[in-house]
Amino acid sequence: MGDFLWWRDGVIYQIYPRSFADSNGDGFGDLPGITSKLDYLASLGIDGIWLSPIYPSPDADFGYDVADHTAVDPRYGTMEDFDRLVAEAHKRGIRIILDLVLNHTSDRHPWFIESRSSRDNPKRDWFLWRDAPNNWASIFGGSGWVYAEKTGQYFFHMFFKEQPDLNWRNPAVRQAQLEVFRFWLERGVDGFRLDVFNAYFKHPDLLDNPTKFGLRRFDRQIHVNDMDRPEMMPLLNEIRTLLDSYPERYSVGEPFVPTIEKTARYAGEGKLHTAFHFFYNDMGLVAKWGADHFRRQMLDLGKASGGAYLPALAMSNHDSARAASRYCRGEDDANARIAMTMLMTLRGTPFLYYGEEIGLRNISLSRKEIMDPLGKYYWPIIKGRDGCRAPMHWDDSANAGFSTGRPWLKLHPDYKARNVAAQENDAGSLLKFSRRLIALRKEYRALRDGGILFLEPPQKDLLAYLRLSQEQTILVALNFSSRARMLDLPPGDWQPLLSTSTREANVSEKVTLTPYEVCLMKSS
Ligand code: GLC
Repeated sequence: MGDFLWWRDGVIYQIYPRSFADSNGDGFGDLPGITSKLDYLASLGIDGIWLSPIYPSPDADFGYDVADHTAVDPRYGTMEDFDRLVAEAHKRGIRIILDLVLNHTSDRHPWFIESRSSRDNPKRDWFLWRDAPNNWASIFGGSGWVYAEKTGQYFFHMFFKEQPDLNWRNPAVRQAQLEVFRFWLERGVDGFRLDVFNAYFKHPDLLDNPTKFGLRRFDRQIHVNDMDRPEMMPLLNEIRTLLDSYPERYSVGEPFVPTIEKTARYAGEGKLHTAFHFFYNDMGLVAKWGADHFRRQMLDLGKASGGAYLPALAMSNHDSARAASRYCRGEDDANARIAMTMLMTLRGTPFLYYGEEIGLRNISLSRKEIMDPLGKYYWPIIKGRDGCRAPMHWDDSANAGFSTGRPWLKLHPDYKARNVAAQENDAGSLLKFSRRLIALRKEYRALRDGGILFLEPPQKDLLAYLRLSQEQTILVALNFSSRARMLDLPPGDWQPLLSTSTREANVSEKVTLTPYEVCLMKSS
C-alpha cells in the first residue's frame, strides 16, 4: 500500500451534516455528532469525508446559499468543533473535504448586501447586474433575473433567487475566492468539492443563449453563454497550483449540467484532480438499470478521458433519489449489492453517500411536509430533494439514535429493522457486504487503479469485467437477471473472493451465476 494515494485510491464518504448525528438534542445534526461517529467510519474503511456545506446559511437552498464562506454555522457547532473534527479524523487516517459553493452566495451575504445597496457601491460589480434581463433561465425554474427596485436593475441567479451569481471576471472576486481556499487549507482541510464550478464564468457581454426544443425554459437553451466558458481553464490551473503548493490536497468538481465529455474535459494534470460521473440524472427521475446501461457509460467515460484520470463515481448524493430507492424493490437489497459492487470496483474513486452502506431508502413526503423549494415549485412532477436527506439510522431506539430531540426531517419508517446496529449483527447485511468490498479495494491494487476490460456478455443482463494490474487480475461478474446466467471464464484458476451465493474454492472455464449474484474472483 506504499503507493496509496488517498484521493485516488481511497473511498470518500459524503455526509449531509444536518442529518448524520445530533450531539445536543436539537434535532439537527452537528460537527460533534460527526466526530462521535469517526470510529464507525474508520471501521467502514473509508479514507475521506466530504461534508456538504457547514457555513452560516439562511437555508434558502439548505446550506448551498452561503452567507459566510469562512465560518461555521452555529447550528453545526463552532470553529473549535471543526478543528477537533479535522484533528480526530486525521488521527484515524481520514481526510476532510469541504464543499465550496463559489458560483453564488446567499442574498444575505455581506458582499451581496453591499452590492445591492447602490449602483456605485464598490461591490456592485461583484455580482451580475443588468438594466434588462437577457434570456438566461434559472435551472430551478423561470427567468434567472430578478428586478431590484432600489437600484432599478436586475441581478442574475442560476439557482434560487436567494442565490445571486458572482461576477468571477472581477479580479477582486477572484482574489477573494482564492482566499477562501487558503483559509481552509491553512486549517488543515485536505480537499474541496467545487459546487457547479463550470458555471463560474459567463459570457463577458451576457449574450443570450441560443435556443432549442425542450420542456422547461432552462432546457430550451443551448448553454454556451452562461456556463463552460473558456476562462474556466486558466482558473482551474490557478486553483490546482494553489492546492499543489500544499501536500496531497485535492479537488473534485461537480459538473453543472453534467456530461461525460465535461467530466473528462475539466479533470487531469493542471486542472481539477477529478470530476464527478453520476450514475443517474435529473434528480433520479430517470433511473435506468441494466448491465448494458452501466457498461456503455463506463466505456464512454474511458474513451472520453483516454485513461488520463480516474473519475469520481457516485450512485447517490444529496440532490438525487438514493440508489436503493431507484434500483431496489421494497426492502430487498439484491440490486443495492450490485450497485455497491459497481461503485467499488469500476474504474474510478467511489463516493459513498451516508447511509448507502446500509441501503437507506428515500423517505416519502406529503406536499405539506416538503421543505426543498424545488419540490414546492415543481410539485407533483418533482417532489424536491428532501427524500434523500433524511436522518441516518444508527439503531432501533427513538429517532434511530440520530437525535434525542425532534429530528429536523422525518425518518424512514423502516429504521427499526434497517439500521447500523442491526446490520453489524447480521453476517448477510449490506453493511457487512459494503465493508468487505471496501477492504477488497484496499487489498487488491487492481481494483483501485488497474485497467478495466469488459468481457463480451454471452447473455443479456450480465455485466462482467476484469480489473488488471501487473500483479493481479480480478474478475467482477454481476447478474442483473432473476434467472441464472452462465459466464465463460478467461483461462486460469479462479478463486472466489466474494459472492452472494455459495461458491467452491476454485473455478475454471465456466461459472453459473445465480439470480442477482455478485461474484468477485481472482486468478492465481
Ligand atoms: C449543487 C448542489 C445543490 C445546490 C446547487 C446550487 O448542484 O449539489 O444541492 O442546490 O448546487 O448550489
